[in-house]
This record gives sequence, C-alpha cells and structure tokens, in this order.
Amino acid sequence: MQGGLFSFPPDKKDSSMALNVTQKIIKDHLVSGEMIPGGEIALRIDQTLTQDATGTMAYLQFEAIGLPRVRTELSVSYVDHNTLQMGFRNPDDHAYLRTVAAKYGITFSPAGTGICHQLHLENFAKPGKTLVGSDSHTPTAGGVGSMAMGAGGLSVALAMAGEPYVIAMPKVVKIHLTGKLPGWATGKDVILHLLGKLTVKGGVGKVMEYAGPGVATLSVPERAVITNMGAELGATTSIFPSDEVTKAFFTAMGRPEDYVPLTADPDATYDEVVEIDLSALEPLAAAPHMPDRMVRIADLDGMKVDQVCIGSCTNSSYADLKAVAQILAGKRIDPTTDLLISPGSKQVLKMLAAEGLIDPLLDAGARLLECSCGPCIGMGGSPTSAGVSARTFNRNFEGRSGTQDGQVYLVSPQTAAMAALRGAFTDPATWGEAPQKAEFPAEVPSIRHLFLTPPADGSDVAIQRGPNIAPLPPFGALPAAIEAPVALKVGDDITTDHILPAGAQITALRSNIPAISEYIFSRVDADFVSRIKKLGKGVILGGENYGQGSSREHAALGPRYLGVAAVVAKSLARIHRANLVNFGILPLLLVDKADYDRIPAGADIRLETAAIAPGQPCPMTVAGVGEVMVINDLTAKELDIIKAGGLLNQARRAQA
Ligand code: F3S
Repeated sequence: MQGGLFSFPPDKKDSSMALNVTQKIIKDHLVSGEMIPGGEIALRIDQTLTQDATGTMAYLQFEAIGLPRVRTELSVSYVDHNTLQMGFRNPDDHAYLRTVAAKYGITFSPAGTGICHQLHLENFAKPGKTLVGSDSHTPTAGGVGSMAMGAGGLSVALAMAGEPYVIAMPKVVKIHLTGKLPGWATGKDVILHLLGKLTVKGGVGKVMEYAGPGVATLSVPERAVITNMGAELGATTSIFPSDEVTKAFFTAMGRPEDYVPLTADPDATYDEVVEIDLSALEPLAAAPHMPDRMVRIADLDGMKVDQVCIGSCTNSSYADLKAVAQILAGKRIDPTTDLLISPGSKQVLKMLAAEGLIDPLLDAGARLLECSCGPCIGMGGSPTSAGVSARTFNRNFEGRSGTQDGQVYLVSPQTAAMAALRGAFTDPATWGEAPQKAEFPAEVPSIRHLFLTPPADGSDVAIQRGPNIAPLPPFGALPAAIEAPVALKVGDDITTDHILPAGAQITALRSNIPAISEYIFSRVDADFVSRIKKLGKGVILGGENYGQGSSREHAALGPRYLGVAAVVAKSLARIHRANLVNFGILPLLLVDKADYDRIPAGADIRLETAAIAPGQPCPMTVAGVGEVMVINDLTAKELDIIKAGGLLNQARRAQA
C-alpha cells in the first residue's frame, strides 16, 4: 500500500507450515491479519477487472480518489453487459470507459470482444495471482488457480489505487473429487450437484478448493464453469490447483510463460471436506427461481421447452459450443423452440468458424448473438410469458430473464442442445452417445490485438463525458441516532435483482445515480421510491440471505441515495453486506430472528449509533413493539467507514 487507508505491518505465517492452495496465495499477498478463519485480513491485489454495468461507477470512484495512474499489475475494463447501442446512453458510457482506461493505464476490451470472465480466463488470468473484479462471477479465473473475488466497484477502485482488499479470512473447504464424469455429465452438473447439496448459502465465508484425483480429469473450461458458479454458493471464491492440465491450457492460449504450478502441500489441512464422486453424476437442472433448486433432467422428461439460451460467462467456451454444434449437426431444432447462442469471446467464435462449426448451428435454426452477456442480463432474448427457458447460465432469479413469469432452468450446454432439438426436456437415457469432449482445436487464434493497451503516459488523454455520466452524489456522515420508519419489509432470499432489477432500460442508467435510483425495489413494491422520497429516510427489514446475487453496488448506492440508513435482516449476503458498508449503510442482524415477525412495515425505529460497537448487541427501539436487540459483524474499520458516510469519503480524506 502506498499511503492510504490501511497501513498494517506485514504478518507472514511460519514458512514451514503445510498449506493448501488458498492459504499459499493468501500468505503471498497478506498485508495484515492472521490466517485464522473469520479474522480480518488485508490482501495485496495483483489484477482487477470491471464490466461496463459496474465499471463506470468504479472509474468515477477511482477518479474521485485522485490518482494519476492505477497501481495494479494489470487492470482490464470490459464492455459486455450493455452492448446494445440504442440511443446515446450506452455509447456514452463506452466512450467514457475507453478514455478513462487510456488515461489511467487500464487495458480496454471494446463491446463485442467477449464476456469479461471468458476473456480474462483466455488472456490474462494467472495462477497464484489475486484478482478483484466488479462482477460476482470473477471467481471464473479460479479455474486456472487465480484467487479471484467478486467485489463492489468501490472495492475495485480502491484496489486500483493500490489499497489492499479487506475480507474475513475464509474457511477453506476441500471439494475432494474422485472418479470421472460419465457420458452426458459435465462440469455444469458438478456445480449444480454441489449447489443442490450445499444450497445458495453453503459457501458463505468459505473458499471452495478442488482437490483429489478427479481434478486431473477436468479441463480448464470445465473447471472454470465450476468456479464461476461457486458464486451461487455464496463462496468468497473457488479455486482449482494449477497442474499439467492448466499448463496445456496456457500453451494452447499462446501464453505458456504465464503457467506456474500451484498445488496444495501433501499434508495440507482444510476446515471442511466435501466428497464428490464424478462417476455418479448425471445431467441436472436448477429449477425456477433459485440456482440450488436441483432436479434431475430425467425427472423433467416431457416438459415443454419454449426457449433455449446457450452462452454466458458460465458456458460459452469453445468446448461448450463445439459440443452443441456436434449435437445439432445435420438436424433441425424443434420449430416451437427458439435457440439463441452467444459465444463467450471472439476467440471462441473464430475457433468455431475455423473448424466449420458455425454452419451446423445456423443450419439447425440457431440464432447467433453477439459475444456478450446478452439474454443472461435480460438484454434481449426474453422468453414468452410463463415460457420455459433452458439456459446454460448461472442465475434463474425471478424476472431476471426480462419476463417476470419466465420459468428458467439452468442446465449444461449438452442438455440445452438436446432440449432445443426435441422442444422438451427428455430423459438422458434416450440421448444416445454423448459427443466427445474437446478442449481446443489444434490452432488457437489470438485476439490480443483487439484489446486497447493504454499509452505509457495518459496525462494528455481527455476523458469523454457524455450526458449519461452524472457526478457522484455526496453522502453525509452517519448521524448520532437513526430515527426512521421501516420503509420496506421483505422476505427471505431477496436478491440484488429484487433490489435493483437488471434489463436494458435500467442498466443504461448505471452512471447516473439519481436516475437509476428510481428503479430501486420497483418490481417488489412499485410505491417504494415515492414512499421513501416522501419520508426522506428509512430502514429496510430483510429476511435470510438479504442481498444475495450479483455484486452490483447500485443495489446499495441507490438505497443510500434515497435515504436508507440501515438494513436490519436475519442474515446478509457477503458482497452486498460489503457494499452496504462501503456506502455508509449500517448492516445489522436481528439477535432473535423471531423478532422479524414482531416488527411491522412502517414501524418507527430509533437506534443510537454511538451505542454500536463491533460485534456487540445493541438495543433498537421499535414504536409499538418495544426494544429489539440487533447485532453487527462489523470490524472496527468497517464501523469507521460507515461513520464517515462511506469508503469514498474516507478514501478522499486519506489521499488529501
Ligand atoms: Fe454477464 Fe451473466 Fe456472466 S451478465 S458476466 S454472462 S452472469
């Protein structure tokens, strides 16, 4: 750290200790803290990535910190979410991102080049490096042994400023793989199986580290599918060792020099162990509307499928799409089913084209979309009303597809292709022989020339700021007492999509906090915004796992702008909790979860903020109910951030 918020003495562990992969990377990057689960650690960050939906805010925040250049080894700005250019908003944002990248020393990936995680895996991810990305599926890079974590844009801005990334030291769970995937089972089925077993809360506070003899049977693209959807477990990240399979991947990608071996010491220990026999797996689906609602495809036999979408940062590799092309070759999809395919990158697209694999897709009736997130984020490709959509994506939250009552099933590309052919889910026992898995063609084309490398000196670069780029609103410090009504009471598993829906119209406003705030909770309670505007302030009462899902910090920024002072919940999702802290909203937990039922919507709340101490219970007065005890899991530093009105206020002060 070069003079900023955190200045801790190095505190390295005994070098003779046997370590797992996670501990090795953490040890190498530890700026402060002890490697004891639950304790606060600060990590040096080597790489950052952003995508456009969260990136504009991250760069506005980086600008506000006031440094001339990023201080990371590598920072990359990808445009993959809102690539549609209907009207000025998205093109304005893209121009802002391109010029900011050139000025501050950031590599820029223009719209249409591909999806951030697929591109990062192919071109930049390295074993043993730390990566923080303003997208919750950043752990995709764990497929090559990178410790890659999703975070809010502000955390990424601070990492670019050279600040360490502060997290609770995770528990390390050994996912011990044995056997080999049979027939139609894929990497997607491994992670779906794990989600069914552990649920969307199963990874909270943990790193899922894959080990055992089954690891060597999985290709890097398969590993990346698994680490990608570790985000759905709520895990801090997921990671595979870097081995001979990884070496072959780097060689194929034309960057063998980036390979370094990285495996757990033979006698390394783990906090928990989960056993998976790969040989016992079969095609699975996550049923609407939660990624852990696991069902066997065999049990869905006969269910009509109206739409099939193949792609997303989870399943859009060459290997995935080649399998699809092989299944569809010489056949025609069911005429009542729509098939959309988004390749993960131009590299994938070029490989498919060179191998003659585009024709089988087009001739089967598939629609080939741009190399971008597309339907995953509701950018077109919505299913019909109440329609069943089989998607190779990672999330199936209600309404995320753009169709409120769309029924999204998350499946592998192979399952998706079979559903497109038959127009229905069918029993895998009737599918015949599975296509051979192929990691890469003999010749892998490079697309490195498509990334814009920043000039050595960006001081003369003028930043292009169209009208869609609004200045950040200022936020005040935490008041001595919060006196506000419960502006909204919500149930369990509220996602960031509930808090701020995705979709073309809303995401286009990502660089304009006042404008995007108009959509906060719009699909949960259409009157919420007008109500809290009238009140001027409020508290949100949440159930279990409040804020699960994406890393979008607008889901904290928007409520903060509208006057939300605290979220009181039964439990909170990790990234969203961090975003609440970063923007000065108090994240509080009910000591007795039964109190949730006693507190009505609209009740007036009073909380002395001076009485809040890290990890200590404190009373909250609820009008008409009495005293309710709340607790926090804040560190002293986090509490200071909230008292300052957010991390940006604090960072500005530190750099002044
Ligand atoms: Fe994009 Fe969907 Fe992944 S929005 S980054 S493809 S989760």
